[in-house]
Amino acid sequence: MRLSHKPEPIPPAPFPQGKEGGARGGGRPSLTLPALREGAEERGGWVRGGWVRASGGFVIWLTGLSGAGKTTVAHGLAEALRERGVAKLEVLDGDAVRENLSKGLGFSKEDRDTNVARIAFVAQLLARNEVNVIVAAISPYAEARAAARERIGEGFIEVHVDCALPELIRRDVKGLYARALAGELAHFTGVSDPYEAPESPDIRVSSEAQTVEESVAAIVAFLEATGRL
Ligand code: ADX
Repeated sequence: MRLSHKPEPIPPAPFPQGKEGGARGGGRPSLTLPALREGAEERGGWVRGGWVRASGGFVIWLTGLSGAGKTTVAHGLAEALRERGVAKLEVLDGDAVRENLSKGLGFSKEDRDTNVARIAFVAQLLARNEVNVIVAAISPYAEARAAARERIGEGFIEVHVDCALPELIRRDVKGLYARALAGELAHFTGVSDPYEAPESPDIRVSSEAQTVEESVAAIVAFLEATGRL
């Protein structure tokens, strides 16, 4: 949130923080509408002649199969956002989370749900302190993702990083698909464990049909269109 330099009769609006410093139509005094203003900092909205950004950071939640490109998109997006002046940004990547916060957890439904709930908890703590978060985790169960959305609220943006299974098997960067297909890896998402693809994600990108740059651009465009940048 940026503080206005001029004294204001009401709390200064947290205008969007784009490259240009934001405030689409902002800075122009207009009618104060208390009813509209109430709660606007949480939900965002058109207030005092400017688009008020929802308070708190956003949480871009990348879900998709292993090897679909979540981590690559996460880091590409982080770089693009930093270039646009978004300084307060954290990436919570599934592999790193599992080495630290979720060390010891396996891949049963219960453990995956615990992992996702922990990530959602940390993401919410960060977001409420104005830190923007990018999560990259398979997060295969729709209910656990819905719980994350519920916890995080307006700032939650679900992005499905899509890629068809045959292509993932062809790429098999970590060699895990081959092992799973050989029956050596139980509970491997997409092969021996379910993946509940989001039916209506906020954004769907594809590592088959798009370049990383195109996927990143689609997410940035969504953030702009919804007044978050
Ligand atoms: S989640 O299901 O709990 O969201 P998460 O994204 O943290 O999964 O971790 C997935 C990563 O763990 C994969 O990218 C892969 O490298 C590794 N992994 C090891 N075993 C499995 C498995 N059985 N299913 C999926 N991923 C696995």
